[in-house]
Amino acid sequence: MDPIQRFSLWFHAAVARSPGSWFDPSAMTLATCGRNGDVTARVVLLKKFGPDGFVFYTNYSSRKGIQLSENPRAALVFHWPYLRRQVRIEGTVEMISREESEAYFHSRPRPSQLAATASKQSQVIPSRKSLIEEFSRLDDLLDGQTVPLPETWGGYRLNPVVFEFWRHRDNRLHDRRRYRRTEHGKWISEFLAP
Ligand SMILES: Cc1cc2nc3c(=O)[nH]c(=O)nc-3n(C[C@H](O)[C@H](O)[C@H](O)COP(=O)(O)O)c2cc1C
Repeated sequence: MDPIQRFSLWFHAAVARSPGSWFDPSAMTLATCGRNGDVTARVVLLKKFGPDGFVFYTNYSSRKGIQLSENPRAALVFHWPYLRRQVRIEGTVEMISREESEAYFHSRPRPSQLAATASKQSQVIPSRKSLIEEFSRLDDLLDGQTVPLPETWGGYRLNPVVFEFWRHRDNRLHDRRRYRRTEHGKWISEFLAP
């Protein structure tokens, strides 16, 4: 079984056994590192995955977006505490096509589209009120029209080169299975000490 298939099994188990609507199994921590070496991490939602990679959506001018433009290497972490499992993924990120971002953007509820347009993500704003006013201004301005996909909004695809599947076991003798992709595209599977 390759790591994408293993991820798929684990992800579907996480969805099937999710403890409730308050927990989103697709939430993953994304770590990025800019040119100056500063490391930042935050939660984003996984929207799609497969042999091509792991897709999430965000603002390209956000702090993560700027760091990814300086250094496309990134890491993802999923933690499903009710399964006592963690998955770590490392790889390189690229922007997805404008068409793919457009299709996803317009599949979202209109208020989400307006919010993504109103929010200059990660920039300092005078107040929460100013954000809500911008949202209302756009809502009026675009009344009856399609909300255009903002220039700075879209998806990234992380192309994985390393996976680690961690599973709780008794006596702290946890399972850690790592997969490394060789330059020929073959996956090497290894066990790591916990
Ligand atoms: C559960 C959860 C899901 C989130 N999903 C996303 C997401 O899919 N895309 C996104 O841009 N931000 C998402 N966020 C907000 C980010 O964690 C973060 O605040 C934002 O992207 C700005 O990060 P940055 O300043 O490091 O770029 C989510 C936050 C939480 C708690």
